Order: sequence, then C-alpha cells, then structure tokens
Amino acid sequence: MKRARPFPLTVPFLSVLLPAALLLPAPSADAADRPADARIGGELAQARCTDCHVVAATGGGTDQAPPLPAVAVARSDGELAAFLARPHGAMPPISLTRQEIADLVAYLGTLRPRAP
Ligand code: HEC
Repeated sequence: MKRARPFPLTVPFLSVLLPAALLLPAPSADAADRPADARIGGELAQARCTDCHVVAATGGGTDQAPPLPAVAVARSDGELAAFLARPHGAMPPISLTRQEIADLVAYLGTLRPRAP
C-alpha cells in the first residue's frame, strides 16, 4: 500500500513561486510604494500649493483659492485624492504622482481638528 507523502505539492509549488516573486520588477516611482508620509506632503504643499492656497496659518496664499485647512475639513480623504488626481474648475491641472497625492492627503488630514 502506498503512503501519502507529507507535502505532496507544497514544496515544488513554493520553490517555483518564491524565485518568481523575487524577479518581479521593482514598482515604478509613480506607484504608491511606501506608506503615505504627511511630513513629505507638508513640504509638497508648501512648495506647490502656496502660490494660491493658504496652506497653514503661516504660509502664503491668495483669496482666489480656498485655504487648505478649510478644504481638509470640508472634504473626505477620498474626495481630496480624487480631486488632486484630476484638478478642475478654477484650479489649474497640476500633475502629481499617486505617491504625491497620498502624501498630500495624509498632510491635509493633519490640518483637521483632532477629535477630543
Ligand atoms: C495656480 C493656483 C493653484 C495652485 C498652485 C493650487 N491650487 Fe488648489 N485650487 C485653486 C483654485 C482657484 C481652487 C478653487 C477651484 C474651484 O472652486 O473651482 C482650488 C481648489 C482646490 C481643491 C478643492 C477645494 C474644494 O473644496 O472643492 C483642493 C483639494 C485643492 N485645490 C488642493 C490643492 C493642492 C493640494 C495644491 C498643491 C499641490 C493646490 N491645490 C495647488 C488654485 C490652485
């Protein structure tokens, strides 16, 4: 009588999959390949948004564009990300990578008043 082998398929399966996973191409710079970083988002906002928006209490801005702290309170993360992927209306079409959008949304989240 034949005894079942302990790991009939697992070993060959893994030995194929693991090297294959290691050979996958590195994610492109455009992909959100690290967690969103609010600090980097804040620097981006200072550099790219203050021509028009008030970013924090200290930074630049015009009355042509709504202050970003007010925008952050009025909009959800999803709405902010969608808008930044496709700015429209009076906002010019600035081009941002997905990583930049994720960082900006994380930064905008820090502008909302904290729950007590
Ligand atoms: C050249 C000027 C300009 C720059 C630069 C700019 N914006 Fe805007 N933005 C505007 C204007 C004007 C509006 C208002 C659009 C409208 O109401 O139609 C706007 C609207 C927005 C809105 C939507 C507000 C809402 O509640 O609907 C968001 C979010 C936003 N901007 C984020 C940003 C971020 C983040 C940056 C920097 C990465 C940025 N903007 C850079 C001019 C600008």
